[in-house]
Amino acid sequence: MGLEEGSTKKHTGFCESGKCSVVIFVLVAIGIAVVACVTFLFPAVRTTVPPTETPTTTLTWWQTTIIYQVYPRSFRDSNGDGVGDLKGVIEKLSYFNDLGVGAVWLSPFFTSPMRDFGYDVSNYTEVDKIFGNMADFDELIRTAHEKDIKIIIDFVPNHTSNESTWFKDSRNSMDQYKDFYIWNAGKTLPNGTHVAPNKWISVFEGSSWTWDDVRKEYYYHAFLDSQPDLNYRNPAVRAAMKDVLRFWLNKGVDGFRIDAIPHLFEHVDLSLEERPGMSDAFDPDRYKYTKNQPEIFDVVREWREVLNQYEGERFLVAETVGIPQEERQKYYEAGSVPFFFDLIPVARGSRGCPNTLAQCYLTRIIDGMNLKGAQWPNFVIGNHDNRRIADRIGQEYADAMNMMLLTLPGTPTSYYGEELGMRGGNYTGFQPKDPFAITSNNPNNSRDSERNPMQWSNTVNAGFMDGTGEPWLKITANTEYPRVNVEEEGKVNGSSLQLYKELAQLRARPGFRSTHIEHPEIFGEVLTYIRGVDVDKYLVALNLGLVGFRLDITQIGYSQGTVVFATNFSRKNTIIQLASFHLQRGEGLVIKL
Ligand code: GLC
Repeated sequence: MGLEEGSTKKHTGFCESGKCSVVIFVLVAIGIAVVACVTFLFPAVRTTVPPTETPTTTLTWWQTTIIYQVYPRSFRDSNGDGVGDLKGVIEKLSYFNDLGVGAVWLSPFFTSPMRDFGYDVSNYTEVDKIFGNMADFDELIRTAHEKDIKIIIDFVPNHTSNESTWFKDSRNSMDQYKDFYIWNAGKTLPNGTHVAPNKWISVFEGSSWTWDDVRKEYYYHAFLDSQPDLNYRNPAVRAAMKDVLRFWLNKGVDGFRIDAIPHLFEHVDLSLEERPGMSDAFDPDRYKYTKNQPEIFDVVREWREVLNQYEGERFLVAETVGIPQEERQKYYEAGSVPFFFDLIPVARGSRGCPNTLAQCYLTRIIDGMNLKGAQWPNFVIGNHDNRRIADRIGQEYADAMNMMLLTLPGTPTSYYGEELGMRGGNYTGFQPKDPFAITSNNPNNSRDSERNPMQWSNTVNAGFMDGTGEPWLKITANTEYPRVNVEEEGKVNGSSLQLYKELAQLRARPGFRSTHIEHPEIFGEVLTYIRGVDVDKYLVALNLGLVGFRLDITQIGYSQGTVVFATNFSRKNTIIQLASFHLQRGEGLVIKL
């Protein structure tokens, strides 16, 4: 107490003597000089990230949630037949609550001959019996909503199965369905040989035209010959597909993921040839006349209008693989959110990544945020068509990759199992199940690996199914499951799963709900950026390189921070001096500034 009095007195006396204003003047002058020097020596990191920040108050559910993709075949098998099902998803609904995930996207569960594992639908308004029945779906949606989980379902508009009644009627030229598909006679040579209308090739390789002996014409298919493309220049097709949307909206679904949308139309002039060569989904020119045709957006708009007739905000997210930037804008303008896939092909040394991994990600993150006005970013790092992160980038980077996904602005989409750092199945030596591998006769094209069953526990079959039956894709192909599974990771502090849950909570903070990102930068192979607002700011630092790296990041204007989340649990709650801190390879930190 005495000391306080003394110091106050001394201070008052100093100012009273008239020296106070001189000192303040000198201090201000020094301050200005220091700021000028610092600015000169360390120019502010220039970023092309647009400064737009959507006010948190206007955000809707799909902007504040993580979307979690469930591939129902592989998630949880409730009846022991080796294939996951809707009841299995119902059993696991609380898991999504535990994870902090508010929306689940279900890959197709509709009636299908399963040539492309459900992406070949023969009846859009039925549940395939392998997945259960409509009562299961009704229960799923009801219980999910009770638990505050939104359900997004797959909508496969580009093509049906060749076993759909629509196609059967069309090949028989039945009135209403006659023009439901893209039919063309092609040419018939004098010797009777049939020649396709052009050399367009399917995504799954081989000609995209198949001769139909019933109708005596070719039909067009962007994918398998068992997936004939619908004809969207026929208003009856458009009406029928809108009815499909209404059917599921009436059941209460919260949104749709639109499958293969860039393929919806083909150029009317069938004499136009595309660049020959192998298919490459990320090469837009490769499909100059069979992808990204302008009519797509009228259809998307029509779908959006259908959704808008329903109460609440219904979500449309589009599978826009290999689209140019201008096309993304058009998807937004038409009322959908185009998945931003450009982070997926990034892999060390891959064609899409000539520079370091960190540099590749940074460039693409900035691209992903290059949006107009209130257009909302989204990031995706994995799905059922691409190798799992642990295989693509490396298992020791899996946590850092989740840290990146969950701390970036916008809506993240996670693929089941990635929260565990799960590897894909190693099915070398097994006959591939994926039709892409089969039609292209190339096991490297197989998507079986990433579709491996979810690992719930260390019991037989990893808790994917009970009993000792055989899952549709073996679990034994992945020897790590006794350690990498929900039950075990749930008990271990610092596991991938625990980190994922913590990051999911972090996203709920207001600063993570804006599209604001500061100082996106690279130090060696360390990717850094700052998220948050005002006094609630976080530095994210991810070492995506092959070696450890020490960095000085004081130019961001902070000298130290506290580690709040770390891929290496022992670093949690430690103080970091930003002038010199080290990250091991694959290490990621979220540092509260
Ligand atoms: C989409 C799906 C993929 C499927 C293809 C054909 O790209 O994601 O799994 O094979 O469409 O439907």
